[in-house]
Amino acid sequence: MAHAPNPIADDIEQYLERHANKSMLRFITCGSVDDGKSTLIGRLLYESKLVFEDQLSALESDSKKVGTQGEGLDFALLVDGLAAEREQGITIDVAYRYFTTERRKFVVADTPGHEQYTRNMVTGASTADLAVILVDARKGVLTQTRRHSYLVSLLGIRHVVLAVNKLDLVDYSQEVFERIAGEYAAFAAEIGLTHVVPVPMSAYMGDNLTAPSPNTPWYTGPTLIDHLETVEIDDADETAPFRMPVQWVNRPDLDFRGFSGRIVSGVVRPGDRVRVLPSGRESVVERIVTMDGDLDEAVAGRSVTVTLADEIDISRGDVIAGVDALPCVADQFEAHLVWMGEHDMLPERPYLCQIGTMTVQARVTRPKYKVNVNTLEQTATNTLALNEIGVCNISFDRPVPFDPYADNRDTGGFILIDRLTNATVGAGMIAHSLRRSDNIHWQAVDVDGEARSLLKGHRPHIVWFTGLSGSGKSTVANELERRLYALGCHTYLLDGDNVRHGLGRDLGFTDADRVENIRRVTEVAKLMADAGLIVLASFISPFCAEREAARELVGADHFCEIFIDAPIEVAEERDPKGLYRKARRGELINFTGVDSPYEPPLNPDLRIDTTATSPEEAARLIIEHLRSLGTIV
Ligand code: ADX
Repeated sequence: MAHAPNPIADDIEQYLERHANKSMLRFITCGSVDDGKSTLIGRLLYESKLVFEDQLSALESDSKKVGTQGEGLDFALLVDGLAAEREQGITIDVAYRYFTTERRKFVVADTPGHEQYTRNMVTGASTADLAVILVDARKGVLTQTRRHSYLVSLLGIRHVVLAVNKLDLVDYSQEVFERIAGEYAAFAAEIGLTHVVPVPMSAYMGDNLTAPSPNTPWYTGPTLIDHLETVEIDDADETAPFRMPVQWVNRPDLDFRGFSGRIVSGVVRPGDRVRVLPSGRESVVERIVTMDGDLDEAVAGRSVTVTLADEIDISRGDVIAGVDALPCVADQFEAHLVWMGEHDMLPERPYLCQIGTMTVQARVTRPKYKVNVNTLEQTATNTLALNEIGVCNISFDRPVPFDPYADNRDTGGFILIDRLTNATVGAGMIAHSLRRSDNIHWQAVDVDGEARSLLKGHRPHIVWFTGLSGSGKSTVANELERRLYALGCHTYLLDGDNVRHGLGRDLGFTDADRVENIRRVTEVAKLMADAGLIVLASFISPFCAEREAARELVGADHFCEIFIDAPIEVAEERDPKGLYRKARRGELINFTGVDSPYEPPLNPDLRIDTTATSPEEAARLIIEHLRSLGTIV
């Protein structure tokens, strides 16, 4: 049966085609609480007729209940969807809105303005082309305005609309508008924001949003929507060199082997020569496979599966790049770091780092400086606190492919994750690699750790003791070493107090110093294990992150964690060195368990309760464990 023409379907087809050909602008709005961001977005949605009738009637009744605009419609309520936000009167998460006009499609990330939510702002900004920065005409450029602008610039956004809002409340004063625009322009130039368009407006009254306002006859520039619809965004993603971080290796059967991921920049075609990094192997693209068939070309933004002409080893996290312009490969960088953790950044702490599709371990050295976002002054610092921005050296535990962030936001940006809580604690933008990492190579030697330990009749190992001061670590470690010695094993006992007389003489007991203490001890223990020894490391080592990093550094086969567990009351009662008494009297600060934290191991290889187990029995249990691992016979 022949199909009758279907006008609705045809209309939809036409409609979709019209929309598919429109360009897309991603933008963020930033402003301080009460600057009127949500009202602005609400009104844009309203004016572009995307608000449905039922939402409108809800808006009317909500406006009466909780609105801040008297009898009028409170457009902010369209956007502030979360109940908690309404109650607190603040926006607390990034909300993405999609809307479209006749000329363009838009994705807007509404990001909260108050200081502790830098994280959301970074999330929203990292993919945006343009930022609308709101200022209240009555207040002008505030610290927040500078902070947001600095972040916007740091995150690679080049286009800014300075929305001088609430102009109705200053009688649409041209002078106020020009003063604010002038002050902002000076700051923007300093931080490298070159395309700034100031627009006088009232989001609430609708002035200069979608139509020129009769209230500002002196203003001849574009309305907000005009500018958003016409601003030219360079399609840098498409013209940049080809990069595709591999998300997974697609191998359904022996005949097909494809590499799937999103093209983050550039274009790829079958026949293109590519290099896989960090390995450096080269090949030629054979096919570009998608759900809808093979492609002759795929551009940035598209997720595809490519196949290569040669069988080369590729795994998740590798980057496939065009040979004409290659990313760098390095393990040490200088980077801008925006700190978002509740706890201060700890230099030398191992954080998890996500860069592209790769997860590595990263350590941040002491920041070179932090930036005062108000004055742009650079000040020396040992750490970064919540919302602070600094420049630091970062080292990864292996070489990764990257581009400077200024060239490529996807391959030049990374986030840091706390290993224990899984929270995102930092966002980084790579400036450049540090040359010194290129100049230091690993020297291969013929007699290695395994060979050395063969002579000794046992395998190298690190027995890591952790626990409170007074829990019994040293006593058990000492007993264990005595027994291993009697068995003919070659051992060394690294003990907290002893090591602090030399290797750690310059360190105290702040969190940062403890992290550094354990880092040094771990490196020394690793060298000793490489010398073939069974190393006993007995340190409070209060943080999971450093203990886990030690396990990873030496390899899980050569490491075990023994939790010497005694309740703090018992350790305090024993108080072999009188330190708990001192700490309680306030004569000793940062004492573990008193005013400094201890994170017990989540999965120790052995937990020894020293209130119920004698040192002899504890040593016997550990020896049994080492036998079960094959470390000793
Ligand atoms: S760690 O936290 O960095 O692992 P480490 O094991 O080296 O500590 O040193 C702990 C020893 O230092 C304790 O056994 C104790 O004798 C002594 N000490 C002195 N001050 C402190 C303190 N503030 N907190 C903990 N231990 C301290």
